[in-house]
Amino acid sequence: PTRPGGPVPRGPVLQIGALHPLVEDTLTAEHSALRLPADPDDREDFLDRHAGEVRVAVCSGRTGVDRELMGRLPRLEAVVHFGVGYDGTDAAGAAARGIRMSNTPDVLTDAVADTALALYLDVLRRFSAADRFVRRGAWETTGNYPLTVHASGRRVGILGLGRIGRAVAHRLTALGCEIHYHNRRPVPDVEHRYHGSPAELAAAVDALVVAVPGGPDSAALVDAAVLDALGPHGFLVNVARGAVVDEAALVAALEDGRLAGAGLDVYRAEPHVPAPLRRLENVVLLPHVGSATVQTRRAMAELTLRNLRSWLADGTLVTPVD
Ligand code: DGY
Repeated sequence: PTRPGGPVPRGPVLQIGALHPLVEDTLTAEHSALRLPADPDDREDFLDRHAGEVRVAVCSGRTGVDRELMGRLPRLEAVVHFGVGYDGTDAAGAAARGIRMSNTPDVLTDAVADTALALYLDVLRRFSAADRFVRRGAWETTGNYPLTVHASGRRVGILGLGRIGRAVAHRLTALGCEIHYHNRRPVPDVEHRYHGSPAELAAAVDALVVAVPGGPDSAALVDAAVLDALGPHGFLVNVARGAVVDEAALVAALEDGRLAGAGLDVYRAEPHVPAPLRRLENVVLLPHVGSATVQTRRAMAELTLRNLRSWLADGTLVTPVD
C-alpha cells in the first residue's frame, strides 16, 4: 500500500538515537524499525508522517522519550530502554498515559561498580595524574611523585544503596572501608550505617560515592551544602548522572580547596565537560564509560531485545520499570 506524503511505515517500532549494533541490526532486520532522524527539520517531517503509527520506542536511557516527543506519539504503548537509567524519558508522563517502560538492570551492575571503585582509588591515590607525570618526563626531571591519601580502611558513604550501590559497598568492604549510606528508605538487610540525609551522610565520611538513579527526584541532590559537609579532606565519586550533582557548586568547591577531589564518569550536559574541571589536577574525568565493556554492552543489548520481543509477542516486559 502507498500513502500520500511519503513511504509506508515499515512497522510500529521506533528507534531513537544510536544504539548497540546488535540492537540496531535486529531492529532493522527483524522489526523493520523506523528511525527518528537526528536533524530537527527531517524529524518534523518524519513525525508528521509517522508519529501516529509508533507503538514502541527503543532508545538509550539518556536519550529517552522526552515530554515533547511523547506528546507527539499518540499511540505509544511501551518504551524499551537500553541502559538501567531512563532519566531521558518523561517517566511521569508515561505513567499518566499507562505507557510501560523497561530497562536493563543487573547486567551492568558489576561494570559500573568496578568503575566507581577505580574512580575512588584513582582520585585518592592520583594514579591518572601520576601516569601523566611519568609520560611528560617529570619523574626524571623533578624527582618522585608527591605522596597521596590512603584509600583502604576509610569511611565511605554510598548515596543510593540499590544494586549498584551495594556492589560498590561490597568492593569497598574488601578494602576494609567502613560503609555508610543514605537511601530514600533504610535498607533492612544490610549492616551499613544509615544516615537520614545526604548532608548527614557526607559529614560522616571521607568519600561519597553517588549511585542514585537520575531524574527529577534526584536533581542536585548533591548540592553546595552536601559538598561543604564532605569538606576539604573529602572526595566525591559520581557514577550516576551528572544532574545529581550541582556541577557549578562542585567546580567552586574544588577550585576553592573546599573539597579534596572528585572522580567523575558523568556530567550535566554530556559530552560537554566544563573547562574548569578539565583544568583541575585533583579531578579524574571519564567519558561515561561505567557500563562500557564488550561483555556488559552485549548483555544490555540482549536484554533490550528480550524486552522488545516479549512486548511485541504478548505485551509483557522481562525487566519492567515499576
Ligand atoms: C545506564 O545504563 O544508565 C548507563 O549510564 C549507560 O551506560
